[in-house]
Amino acid sequence: MFRTRRLRKTDGIRRLVRENQLSVNDFIYPLFIEEGEGIEKEIVSMPGIKRWSLDTVSKELDEVVALNIPAVILFGIPTEKDEVGTETWNDNGIMQQAVRYIKKNYPSLYVITDVCFCEYTSHGHCGVLCDNDVDNDATLVNLAKQVISHAKAGVDMVAPSGMMDGTIAMIRESLDQAGYPNLPIMGYSVKYASAFYGPFRDAADSAPSFGDRRTYQMDPANRDEGLREATFDDEEGADILMVKPALSYLDIIRDLKENFDRPIACYNVSGEYAMVKAAAEKGWIDGERVMMESLLSMKRAGADIIITYFAKEAARALLNK
Ligand code: PBG
Repeated sequence: MFRTRRLRKTDGIRRLVRENQLSVNDFIYPLFIEEGEGIEKEIVSMPGIKRWSLDTVSKELDEVVALNIPAVILFGIPTEKDEVGTETWNDNGIMQQAVRYIKKNYPSLYVITDVCFCEYTSHGHCGVLCDNDVDNDATLVNLAKQVISHAKAGVDMVAPSGMMDGTIAMIRESLDQAGYPNLPIMGYSVKYASAFYGPFRDAADSAPSFGDRRTYQMDPANRDEGLREATFDDEEGADILMVKPALSYLDIIRDLKENFDRPIACYNVSGEYAMVKAAAEKGWIDGERVMMESLLSMKRAGADIIITYFAKEAARALLNK
C-alpha cells in the first residue's frame, strides 16, 4: 500500500521534506507616520500597531532593525488635507521627512513609500475628483509629482496603491526623466475593493467621505481580470507585482506566480490582522500558530514578499523555533 504517513513520522523527516519555509527575509513591515510631536497612539482595531511621529518612531525602528526585518513601507498622516492632496508632493511633507529621517538614522533599512492620495485628500478618495468620481488622468499628473518628491527625499522603492490606469507607465517615465532610472516600482497590481481594509482606514484616516472605491479597485468576484491588471503593470515596467488582500486571494497570488517572471508580493492587510488578534484575545484560536500558518500559506501560494503587520511577531517566532 502507498503510505504517505511514512514521511510524516518524526520532526526530522518532516523537516527534510518540508516544501516551504518562512524567513524574516520575506517581510515588509508597514509603519504609520503622523505629522506632529510626541505621538505614540495605539490603533484600537490593530492591537500592537501604533501611529508614530518622527520624534518617537526610533523606538519602533530600533526593534525592526534588531529583528533584521529588511524593509518598511511608510504611510503618512498629514495635518493638512485638501481637495487634491497637495501635501503629497510637498518636499517637506511628512512622508518626505520620514524618508530622510530613516535613511539618515537607519541606513541599512530598505524604505518603501506607499504612493497614494487618500490620506491627503479632504474627501478620502485616491485622487482628483470630477463628477464625484476619481479622474484617472488628472490623478496621474499629480502622482508623477508625488513620486519625484519621494525620490528626491531618497526613498528606495515606490509602491503606488491607487489603482489608476497607466500608473506604472507614468511613474516609470517620470522617474527616468528626472534622473531616477534605478528606482524600482512595486505595483499594487491586483488590488480588490475589499472590506478587509476597514481597520487601516481608521489607522490612516483615509476612509472615503462618500461612496466607495469600486470604480477604481477590483471586484472581488474577478480572477481573469487580475491577470489583465498584472499584465498591464508588467508591460509598463513594474519591478514587483503585488496582490492585495492576501488571505482571501491566494488563488490570485498563485496565478501571478505562474504567469509572470517577476517577484510577487502580497499584502496581508489590516482586517486579516485584526481578525487573528481579536479571536486570539478571546482565546478562541492560538494566535501565534494561526499567524504563522497564514503567512506560510501566502508563501506556499507563491508570494516571494509578504507585507504584514505581523512582521515583528513572526520574526520573533522564527528566532525561537
Ligand atoms: C491606500 C491603501 C490602503 C491600504 C494600503 N494602501 C487602503 C485602501 O485602499 O482603502 C490598505 C492596507 C490595509 O488594510 O492594511 N493608500
